Amino acid sequence: MAAVAQQPISMAWGFGGSALQTEGAWNVDGKEPDVFDAYYTNLGTSVKAPFIAADHYHRIDEDLKILADLGATAYRFSISWSRVLKNCTGEINPQGIAFYNKMINQLLAYKIEPFLTMYHWDLPQTCQDSFGGWASDKIVDAFLVYADVLLANFGDRVNYWLTINEPRANCDMCMMNPKFPPMTTNTPELYMKCMKNSHLIHGNVVKNARAKYPALSKNWKFSIPQIMEWVEPQSDGSSLDKQTQWFYDPCVFGDVTCNLDVTKCVTIDPVPFTQAEKDLMKGTCDFIAVNVYSTVGVSADPISDPTYWPNPNPIGPRKMPKFLYDRYKVPIVLSEIGFHVPNSMENNIQDVIKDTYRVQWWQEAAPLVLEAITVDKVPLLAMLAWSLLDNYEFNTYSLRWGHVAVDCKFLTRTVKDSAKYLKDFFANATLISPFVRTAAPSATASATGSGPTNTGSAAATATTAKNSGGAATVAAGLTSLAIFLLFA
Ligand code: FCB
Repeated sequence: MAAVAQQPISMAWGFGGSALQTEGAWNVDGKEPDVFDAYYTNLGTSVKAPFIAADHYHRIDEDLKILADLGATAYRFSISWSRVLKNCTGEINPQGIAFYNKMINQLLAYKIEPFLTMYHWDLPQTCQDSFGGWASDKIVDAFLVYADVLLANFGDRVNYWLTINEPRANCDMCMMNPKFPPMTTNTPELYMKCMKNSHLIHGNVVKNARAKYPALSKNWKFSIPQIMEWVEPQSDGSSLDKQTQWFYDPCVFGDVTCNLDVTKCVTIDPVPFTQAEKDLMKGTCDFIAVNVYSTVGVSADPISDPTYWPNPNPIGPRKMPKFLYDRYKVPIVLSEIGFHVPNSMENNIQDVIKDTYRVQWWQEAAPLVLEAITVDKVPLLAMLAWSLLDNYEFNTYSLRWGHVAVDCKFLTRTVKDSAKYLKDFFANATLISPFVRTAAPSATASATGSGPTNTGSAAATATTAKNSGGAATVAAGLTSLAIFLLFA
């Protein structure tokens, strides 16, 4: 095992999840159906549906307490668009806003930094019905209305924003190789349009945020999390290079900078950007958020099956932060990292809770992640393990990604050994969270949550962000950067 440096290390750590995969409560408190809800309702089955998921919506107090007890200092969650907005871009649902206000306030009371994902798979069915969802350019304007509601309502307390989770997977699996709802299209052209629109949405969200909220946006850091597979051995011009350039170059440099004619970033040509679009997108990633699971080209004992995904050889998470930092020179966040233990190794709930192989994996992987900071001198802001809870993973509950077991029948939570391992490891590694805030709200005050700041139509009301939770809004980003420079 690699040695762990003894001096304090500046990095937050915690877990992630998404609304679709964890919340359940699909038709509760004014939530409208998303494309998954509608698809499974039409099929007439709830077996593979996210209707209940991990019931995070109803068990939020318990789940965040577990998170705090584990010593986590960051939590990644996503907002369910159809929980906070009615009819795609219509009226705000106050109960939806109140739920996330309560969650954010509790996180801050626990000194856990919220990483808010705006979009993570669950398009409102009304966006799909009214204009065709991701297959249409109209998604751009609809998303901007939605994003503004989030910035206006949560931006007084949330600093770290992830606009669209994994555009490649989202666009591919909706548009080109439909594997999840809405399962309506299958053309490469729509896929490329969706990819281009994802980049433009990100650029526009950030541009609008900075223009409309000049004071608050000084605290805000934006990124667009992409899924990357490390390729070993790494060589110039490899698929690793090409994916990186296609995924992140637009939000840092303003365009895909590899020579498309010669080296083709992807198998089909991306839709080119106009000069105005390049200007818009340039400089809109304040940090690089990357989801790293799999490593290509090396074995991962004891999983010898070469077709198993992910291949959890931890060389990928070890090398990816430096690879990305060298190119983009902005802080890095491991926005997802982890794997699911093969079902064959988890024959009963005791095995699930013991999760021996995941523990072994973290014993190797966690020290390696820290080496990105201590050896490579990369400003790695946070590591967010996927996932906090066993949850809904596209049409199944059998892949247990969680570090907290969720009993399928009663939904009871049991902390797995892997989570206990991470708790002890990071406590002993002397981590300092870079997200220092002053005067966090008390747990009691935050537990009551707050009502929405706006209740009228989204376009008309998403204009003011009011601090409804009493949380401090001290900028953390600049502080964290300063801390990291010490390691540079
Ligand atoms: C990632 C997704 C996340 C989850 C994990 C296992 O690619 O972003 O929602 O499904 O895979």
